[in-house]
Amino acid sequence: MSKTNYAPTVSLLLLTVFFIGMLLASPRAIGGEINIYSHRQPYLIEPFLKEFTKRTKIKTNVVFASKGLAQRLQAEGEASPADLVLTVDISRLKQYADKGLFQPFVSTVLESNIPKNLRSKDSTWYGFSKRSRVIAVSKSLKNSNEITRFEDLTDAKWSGKICSRPGSHVYNRALLSSIIAANGNEAAFAWAKGLVKNFARSPRGNDRSQIKAIFSGECAIALVNHYYYGKLINSEDPAHRKWAESVDIIIPNQGPTDRGAHINISGGGIAKHAKNLEEAKQFMEFLVSKEAQKLYASINYEYPVITGVDLPDTLTAWGNFREDQVPIETLAELSGKAQKIIDKVTW
Ligand SMILES: [Fe+2]
Repeated sequence: MSKTNYAPTVSLLLLTVFFIGMLLASPRAIGGEINIYSHRQPYLIEPFLKEFTKRTKIKTNVVFASKGLAQRLQAEGEASPADLVLTVDISRLKQYADKGLFQPFVSTVLESNIPKNLRSKDSTWYGFSKRSRVIAVSKSLKNSNEITRFEDLTDAKWSGKICSRPGSHVYNRALLSSIIAANGNEAAFAWAKGLVKNFARSPRGNDRSQIKAIFSGECAIALVNHYYYGKLINSEDPAHRKWAESVDIIIPNQGPTDRGAHINISGGGIAKHAKNLEEAKQFMEFLVSKEAQKLYASINYEYPVITGVDLPDTLTAWGNFREDQVPIETLAELSGKAQKIIDKVTW
């Protein structure tokens, strides 16, 4: 009896199905690599890179430094291996853009997911997560409910009660820029002067150490980015949890006609001389996917820029709040004016 051998036909069929499947599943290139220059700490971006590589098979190489990366990129010029830059503040992003170190990337995925006020007009940079500057107050501070706005902090009744990191740090400079945008230069100067007048000690340390200073009784009020509270209250270190437990967080400027809480971003842009352009674009778009947006919230207690993402309990407890809608680009443009004020009032 003659036996028909179907094996080659079946293999061919399976191979065809496999390739059609590949084409449907991934209309874009699979594999390759990207080189990222990151101001964001390695442990904060590691989970993003893992997920991205899992999805795309694109390898990621990261150069991390908190300072000096823009100078490095500039010095490397066309020879730079950098494809993508990630930063944690609008001032830094704008520095790259102003130095011409980014190239525009017009993307409907990014534009439809990221609110207009959180990205550049010329598509050179995009915000991927939001951070709010808030007011931490000691639980033992009397009448702390009288603080509802940043503007309240200049009241003489808070004399000797406030602590802050130096004004020239990008977080404070952006906050002051938002006050210039809202109230004008003169009012912002008066505010900064009044704030400094109420300081309990000369400006020093980082945001975490301001919360620690409240815990230890050095001061009772501090300006901090909201996620530091999230990190401390959820820390494995009991000492950190104690610091956080000693404060309440006030999300300021929430009145019905008020401008809302000051918002800054972490974000990124594609390097001007990117060699792995297609892969870099894929990474940028990956960062606004639901999975990546959830990572911003779960790893670092930052707010996603898209809606409908599950948030950690610390953030859900604060609920939705009014956000200052001033374009983040405006804050970067005002940072020179803000720095002048900071120098004048020696913040
Ligand atoms: Fe930070």
